[in-house]
Amino acid sequence: MPRRAEAMFRLRVGVLISGRGSNLRALLAACADTTYPAEIAAVVSDRAEAPGLAFAQSAGICSAFIPHHAQQAFAAQAEVFFRHQGIQLVCLAGFMRVLDAGFVEAWRDRMINIHPSLLPAFPGLHPQSQALAAGVRFTGCTVHYVRPEVDAGPIIAQAVVATRADDDETSLSARILSAEHRLYPLVVRLIAEERVQVVAGKVEIEGWQAPRRAMLNPREPPRKSPVRGWS
Ligand code: GRF
Repeated sequence: MPRRAEAMFRLRVGVLISGRGSNLRALLAACADTTYPAEIAAVVSDRAEAPGLAFAQSAGICSAFIPHHAQQAFAAQAEVFFRHQGIQLVCLAGFMRVLDAGFVEAWRDRMINIHPSLLPAFPGLHPQSQALAAGVRFTGCTVHYVRPEVDAGPIIAQAVVATRADDDETSLSARILSAEHRLYPLVVRLIAEERVQVVAGKVEIEGWQAPRRAMLNPREPPRKSPVRGWS
């Protein structure tokens, strides 16, 4: 049985957004490579004015604005739209609503989310500010399968970003976002290649080794004279 990357078809991905859409753009950029095993086949936004929606439309992606007046009605319309487009994997990319539990169950282990912290630390809103307030030295981003609880579910992959003494929410968010743009396309590739499975609530990835230096944060240049105090 050939893996999907070697086969003639690509995994059909639907993306749910609410805003800027930079992760959507990163996924679209990855899909521009014809050897990438997935394609963005549909985009749904709950905000008509979302810049990501305008970008998807200009890129010729089948896109829809679905107003979020009620959780169940939104879920029902998104479900119909995605089914109609033959969607096999749903990616939440800056989607700022809590999804209907029935929709989450219908897409169990076929819907993923990216969150800008090393979950389970700092779920919810403003995780970058939460990280700075806690004084952590490392934070980052997480891609996980979606469960009804917010920012919870089996973790597929994470990228680590070092905090800096002079960071504010803007500077830290920018570095995390740049890691997100590498991590999300990698995870979608691994899923499309059918390497990812959930076993007893945890994710196993077959046949893929993280780089030995798996931390994707920018590194400081080496110091000229070593600082003593660490041995
Ligand atoms: C990202 O930081 C993502 O992790 C979070 O919302 C933000 C969306 O950014 N869930 P964008 O719309 O993809 O630019």
